[in-house]
Amino acid sequence: MEDVAVLKELAPKLGTLYDRHLKTTKEWFPHKLVPWERGANLDVEAEWTGEAMPLPDAVRSALFVNLLTEDNLPYYFETINRVFRSEAWDEWSRRWTAEEMRHSIVIRDYITVSDALDPIELERARMKQVGLGQVPQPESVADGLVYVALQELATRISHRNTGKVLDDPVGYAVMARVGADENLHFMMYRDLVSEALELDPSGTVMAIERQVRNFEMPGAGIPGFAKHAAAIAAAEIYDLSIHHDQILVPVVLRHWKVESLNGLTDEAERARASLLSRIERIGKVAKKLAARRPGHSDAVDSEAQEVSAAV
Ligand SMILES: [Fe+2]
Ligand SMILES: [Fe+2]
Repeated sequence: MEDVAVLKELAPKLGTLYDRHLKTTKEWFPHKLVPWERGANLDVEAEWTGEAMPLPDAVRSALFVNLLTEDNLPYYFETINRVFRSEAWDEWSRRWTAEEMRHSIVIRDYITVSDALDPIELERARMKQVGLGQVPQPESVADGLVYVALQELATRISHRNTGKVLDDPVGYAVMARVGADENLHFMMYRDLVSEALELDPSGTVMAIERQVRNFEMPGAGIPGFAKHAAAIAAAEIYDLSIHHDQILVPVVLRHWKVESLNGLTDEAERARASLLSRIERIGKVAKKLAARRPGHSDAVDSEAQEVSAAV
């Protein structure tokens, strides 16, 4: 199905889901979550040492990557505005952008007053990343919806797990608040993909296969991204097991029910077979990698159960 037709056919569902979003979402104020008193003695001329907030390097990596990902918002907006361009979708795209902007505001203010990251390194990295403007470029409306559904859930999990390992109730509350927004965004896009599967099962399943095959967390333009991503995975804040157990299985298999779709074209049947075997392979590799790590964390297991129950 052509993109213009998909957008038009999905518009009524988008309207219903947008109303649900507005009813479920809560107004919140970034400045109320920030512990301003921590910044009272901040010496901005002194060299940053990290002593004000001692944290493992992996936790600093997670804060750094999570914030810089939120900072790249202009390019995510540019992409959704291009891929989902139509009158019915514009209101949602703008609302989503306004909500997303709060995330970088609250996380940056929290990090700055807590002195959790080197502010000069952070600002230089932000300039570099935003100067590059690298974000995934989905090739169709269905690809775009699948990517953002998976990515919003991945971001929710990453923010929530970062909040848990901060060992700071204030930081936990900041990351949980942001994670709650990401969850509503995820539900919006997840349910639009379900509708797309009804409208055009073959086209949508092929988009799911492409997006699972090529999935990357946003952040390729972040300086030192590979090193930070490896540290984040080793600390089980976001790793392959989480990707498999909390995203691919509950969303692609259980919620979108790709195994039981009927009436697929031959090409879509081949894509589905390849998608299913890829998910199985990812699960096996993830298990092997996790087994090699000492002390698998209970916190991550409980998050897995929570996400499975929610989706
Ligand atoms: Fe966000
Ligand atoms: Fe989001």
